[in-house]
Amino acid sequence: MNKIGIYPGTFDPMTTGHMDIVKRSLKIVDNLVIAVATDNLNKNTLFNTLERISLIKNDIKNLKDINPKIEVTELSGLLTNFAKSKNATCIIRGLRAVSDFEYEFQMTGMNYQLNPDIETIFLMTSEKNSFISSNFVKEVHKLGGDVSNFVSTNTLDVLNKKNT
Ligand code: PNS
Repeated sequence: MNKIGIYPGTFDPMTTGHMDIVKRSLKIVDNLVIAVATDNLNKNTLFNTLERISLIKNDIKNLKDINPKIEVTELSGLLTNFAKSKNATCIIRGLRAVSDFEYEFQMTGMNYQLNPDIETIFLMTSEKNSFISSNFVKEVHKLGGDVSNFVSTNTLDVLNKKNT
């Protein structure tokens, strides 16, 4: 039976750090569902849900070896319910620095209470990606900095259009 993992997030937008986690996740699971949060009430996103999904689909389009193993879809409602509906056995999260830990620890605990059958697996971000975050990408880009190493060419084009 195929092992299915969920990689949830806001992905506003998907960065090279996220993409690294996607590729590495597929060494652990057979199929990955990238779940793009829609009703994350605490966040004002630059890109709407459809835009964020479209950017991710574009980024994985050319990865022929892993593309068929990936589904990109929206996540509304509780993550644990969503994971169950997809027959997933694990949630995958990238961990950058100690500062990520507290939030991730709480979220993992809550998700475990909601459904103890679904394990959360953390992948440490590769060293070269450890400082990348969607928020920094947006801020640096808005202020005229070069973010071409942190997002795909397509995402950079879309960011340029947003900020003009
Ligand atoms: O990349 P992010 O913004 O840190 O992702 C947060 C996300 C989407 C994983 C989290 O907000 C989430 O799981 N939202 C779905 C609603 C839910 O299940 N909330 C309870 C989590 S304890």
